[in-house]
Amino acid sequence: MDFGKFIDIVEDKVEIEYKDIPNFPVSTVEGHSGKLVVGRVAGKEVLVMSGRFHYYEGYSMQEVTFPIRVFSLLGIDKLIVTNAAGGIHPDFEVTDIMIIKDHIKIFDETPLRGKNTPEFGTRFPDMRNVYDLEMMNIVREAANEINMDIKEGVYYYMAGPQYETPAEVNVIKLLGGDAVGMSTVPEVIVCSHSGIKVLGLSCITNTLRDDTVDVTHEEVMESGDLIANSFSKLIVEFLRKI
Ligand code: HPA
Repeated sequence: MDFGKFIDIVEDKVEIEYKDIPNFPVSTVEGHSGKLVVGRVAGKEVLVMSGRFHYYEGYSMQEVTFPIRVFSLLGIDKLIVTNAAGGIHPDFEVTDIMIIKDHIKIFDETPLRGKNTPEFGTRFPDMRNVYDLEMMNIVREAANEINMDIKEGVYYYMAGPQYETPAEVNVIKLLGGDAVGMSTVPEVIVCSHSGIKVLGLSCITNTLRDDTVDVTHEEVMESGDLIANSFSKLIVEFLRKI
């Protein structure tokens, strides 16, 4: 899935390679540039990550969320976090975009495990308001403006990299997950710790309704490419409104 194209619309850009930032992790995905792009979209100052870190790649949870720590120290107070996800809710179709209203991460390590750094936040951060209601409203309005039928739901975190078994899909459904994916939640937890407001958006790249249909990385990438344009439009409209 190539959201890398999003950086093409950033104006007045300055690019900083991850390898030139002290202690920043470097992407393991081949062909991934791995850089921060600073500039302007729809008149708003943005900092875009081109290249992302996943726990399944072997990074620690602290490495996965290191960029959020940097953003916090830079004084960034709002984050738009995006991902590819498998659709579980029966109304979700491939190429839908879902506003993440909440998430579920019952298992796996959290990035906040270990000694707390009070300069960033409290030992026991609240997770009730991390998905910002105001940003959700603005993205609803933005979707309306561009005639997009945007979905909403709960994102269920799985560490991956294997996709879910049919029995796991049933459990996720029972627990209240509407879409499932392997990213985002570690970063959102650290945002909550640091008081960064989050808008989360999932691109439904495949559905998990039919046990007889395999999920493949190719399908996920292809659907992602199909969504990329409308997704960019949504983000631009959102930035225009915020
Ligand atoms: N499961 C987990 N992660 C995903 C999926 C999925 O079906 N699709 C895209 N990311």
